Amino acid sequence: MDDDTRDKYVEAGRIAREARELAVEIASPGTELVNIAEKAEEFIREEGAEPAFPVNLSLNDHAAHYTPSRSDDTVIEEEDLLNIDVGAHVDGYIGDTAVTVDPSGENQELVEASEDALDAALDIIEPGVSLGDIGAAIQEAIDSYGFSPVRNLSGHGLGHYEQHTGKTIPNIDTGSGKTLEEGEAVAIEPFATDGKGKVKDGGPGNIYRLDNENARGRTGRKILGEVKNRFRGLPFTSRWIESVPAARLKTAMSNLVRSGNLHSYDILREAGEGLVSQKEHTVIVGEDPTVTTR
Ligand code: CO
Repeated sequence: MDDDTRDKYVEAGRIAREARELAVEIASPGTELVNIAEKAEEFIREEGAEPAFPVNLSLNDHAAHYTPSRSDDTVIEEEDLLNIDVGAHVDGYIGDTAVTVDPSGENQELVEASEDALDAALDIIEPGVSLGDIGAAIQEAIDSYGFSPVRNLSGHGLGHYEQHTGKTIPNIDTGSGKTLEEGEAVAIEPFATDGKGKVKDGGPGNIYRLDNENARGRTGRKILGEVKNRFRGLPFTSRWIESVPAARLKTAMSNLVRSGNLHSYDILREAGEGLVSQKEHTVIVGEDPTVTTR
C-alpha cells in the first residue's frame, strides 16, 4: 500500500470513528433512529468524506442491513439494544466501524462478548495469520461468555470503492489456512448472540446497490444516473436520492428493484430471535497493524 492510499484509509477511519462516537452520543432513549443516521452521515460529509454506506441501525434481534427511511418514526427505547454500523470513505478508501449501545445496561455481557472477541482478533493480526485462527480467537472469546458468534456473518476485505471484497474473515474457527498479507485493509466484525448463532433474511432494509444501469423509463434512468455518479457502486439508501421528488421515489425505487436494476438488501435477523451485539474496526495489516477506526 502506498503512502497516499494509507493516508486516505487513516483519514476515512478517523472520520468513521468520530461519526460512530457522535451516533452513540445522540442515541439516547426517545431519539428517532432516522435522526441518528442523518446526523452521523451529515458529520461525515462535513468532514470532507462521504458515507461508504448508509448508517446501519439494528435493534435487538436485527444484526445488520437496515437503515431508516425519512418517514420511519421508530425511536430507541430504554430496553432496546442498538447496533450502529458506520462507514466513511475518502476517495473510495473506506473506514468501517460498529458498536452496540445498551441504554438499560441489562445486556452488558453480550456487548462485552463482541468487544473482547474483536480485541482477541486484533491481538493476533499480523502478516501470515490464518483466517481460521482469527475466527477461532473470536469464537473462543464469545463462547467464554456463554454466547454464540453469528456464524453466517463475517468480516471482509476492503477495496477501492468496494465495501466487501477479497477475503471473508470468519467469526468461527473454519480451519481456513488462507492468510492476511502485509498492507491489506480488512474489517473485523464479531457478532455475539444469545440466540441460534445465525441470521436469516428479514425483509427489505432500505439499503440498495446498483446492479444494472440500463433502465427503461426516464425516472428510473434519472435515479440510476445519480446512483452511478454519486455512489460509484457502494451501497446507498433512498434518503440520499435528490434527482426525483420524494412523492415519486418509493414507487420508482421498487420498480427498479423489480426490474433488476437495483439490488435491495434484506435485513439480517437472528434466526432464533436472539439479541445481537456487534463490534467492528478497520485494520491495515502489518507487523504493527494500524487500526484506523479506534
Ligand atoms: Co463491515
